[in-house]
Amino acid sequence: MSEFSTVLSESRRFPPPPAFAARAHLSSPEVYRRLCAEAEADPDAYWAARAKEELFWKTPFHTVCEWAPPHARWFLGGTTNLSYNALDRHLDTHADTVAIRFEGEPGDRRDYTYRELHAEVCRLANGLRALGVRPGDRVGIYLPLIPEAAIAMLACARIGATHSVVFGGFSAEALRDRMNDAQARVLITADGGWRKGAVVPLLDNVRASLAHGVPTLQTVVVARRTGASLPSLRAQERSWDDVVAGQPATCEPEWVDAEHPLFILYTSGSTGTPKGVLHTTGGYGVWTSLTARWVFDLKPDDVYWCTADVGWVTGHSYVVYGPLMNGATVVLYEGAPTTPGPDRFWDLIARHRVTILYTAPTAIRAFMRLGDEHPKRHDLTSLRLLGTVGEPINPEAWMWYRETIGGGRCPIVDTWWQTETGGILISPLPGVTTTKPGSATLPLPGIHPKILDKQHQEVTEGAGRLFVTRPWPSMLRTIWGNDARFKAGYFGEHPEFYFTGDGARRDADGYFWIIGRVDDVVNVAGHRLGTAEVESALVSNPKVAEAAVVGRPDALKGTALVAFVTVKAGVPTSKALEAELAAHVTREIGAIARPDEIRFAAALPKTRSGKIMRRLLRDVASGQDSKGDTSTLEDLSVLAALRTDDE
Ligand code: WTA
Repeated sequence: MSEFSTVLSESRRFPPPPAFAARAHLSSPEVYRRLCAEAEADPDAYWAARAKEELFWKTPFHTVCEWAPPHARWFLGGTTNLSYNALDRHLDTHADTVAIRFEGEPGDRRDYTYRELHAEVCRLANGLRALGVRPGDRVGIYLPLIPEAAIAMLACARIGATHSVVFGGFSAEALRDRMNDAQARVLITADGGWRKGAVVPLLDNVRASLAHGVPTLQTVVVARRTGASLPSLRAQERSWDDVVAGQPATCEPEWVDAEHPLFILYTSGSTGTPKGVLHTTGGYGVWTSLTARWVFDLKPDDVYWCTADVGWVTGHSYVVYGPLMNGATVVLYEGAPTTPGPDRFWDLIARHRVTILYTAPTAIRAFMRLGDEHPKRHDLTSLRLLGTVGEPINPEAWMWYRETIGGGRCPIVDTWWQTETGGILISPLPGVTTTKPGSATLPLPGIHPKILDKQHQEVTEGAGRLFVTRPWPSMLRTIWGNDARFKAGYFGEHPEFYFTGDGARRDADGYFWIIGRVDDVVNVAGHRLGTAEVESALVSNPKVAEAAVVGRPDALKGTALVAFVTVKAGVPTSKALEAELAAHVTREIGAIARPDEIRFAAALPKTRSGKIMRRLLRDVASGQDSKGDTSTLEDLSVLAALRTDDE
């Protein structure tokens, strides 16, 4: 974001449209201030009231929060079940409301009412129990964005199994590592999924990863998606249809403790392998249910579409749990945004009369480039609210979203949060907050973000690093199997304040502007990646001696990946080697991690203590000459010698 556009956008303000505010769940700054004051005056009373409003508790909790930094436990003594909260609670009042409205990439359609979704979830839950899945067992889910993904997650929650969804774009290797770390007992997958007119061979990937060994895995459940008949299944593999056959359409939920592990979701950190972020049941349920209603203003007649895949946290919290706990109608679209044509999204919105759209800035920028004629061809007047997530949105894209997609009439909620936070922490409330293009605005009531400088002094106006200074119900509980990494990664900077890894700025109105990651995590096209993961994928190639991967600003993807590679002695560098290394990363992690540019270097620039000078590499990567001949060996050590800064 250029300084110029920031200044421009700070002066632009958009109060909530009065007609929107009049109908909103939260409808005035006074309501917001009152909730904040309540949370401040008596946090336990505030959170207890929220928890009782949001969830059905089989056994009431006796203690709201136990905070022994860095560990928080919430709603102790309470038992509940999120599948019950997302499904059974709606059966008396609106069993025939559509819960999931699915459209596949080839154009096939399927609707599930709450009654039908409940039945499917119960059948699979019973089937999983029959396979021997017990409370606390881990179940992997590796599916396309089809209804079975939501059904599988809810079936796990129903029987107290802990799900771990792996995004279908990840490779066999990445899947294997995650399944091994989680020690999964069952894996649920499909014969394939549709993407850009082609089949993503999920089952082949599963078979390839199993060949390398996941010793804990007993059964692979295979849903039918792309083929009229399933390929012949091997030992250990069972078809979904077979697993649910003859199972009753009801299933007594497992009433689990509030702190029972709900899911593990692997995400990228600044070092090493992906980490398994652990979320538990009660606090996560309360906050995702509440924020889905506050931020998206969900009403019974809304048709809500969050375009995220269930493989990411946005898909967990705001495709599945949050909206379904609110009884909403959720649109699920399997495929690519531009298949079969550049107007697929707008066509979908018009046909399904979507009222709320929640998507990533990268997608918005891509649509901007494709041209206004595509959205203009469709009737988008059903939309009443727009949201963004995943990366900073530049004011130009914000304005385009507002005018071209929202017709100037829809509030925009720029929601800041992370896999670790479980739910949205900083965001406009659409009936309350005056928005400024590019700002995530203000914390939700009960949330306490602060910007600190290097000396841990609060920055009330200006830039610094973003912390959250008090626990909140949906915060991660630990890193699965690695509490030391949890402590060091999030509470290493400050023993009681959660460190987000983001830099941010606060303006004179107290509004937050997220600048982006200050650690070695990058948001590439809205996907979160660790540069260390890509580096270790590169050095696992026998021709590579050393690699350093950095982000460079990219007008479309937000950040693009640039890899600096030194090869082993005697290995010739060439375009062919570039292609080979890119393919290698795709195989190790997945296409989302494929470097946008590979530059060969004679040596990587290092400080005297031997640390790679990443800041220098970032400067080189974003320099004007970055499109130079990439097969030329660069002597970066000369540049390093010119720099005195020890990073
Ligand atoms: C970034 C996605 C600016 C941020 C929910 C964060 C954002 C990382 C925003 C988490 C936003 C998310 N504005 N940046 N509204 N939302 N981010 O774990 O850098 O995939 O740390 O969770 O995305 O990514 P994750």
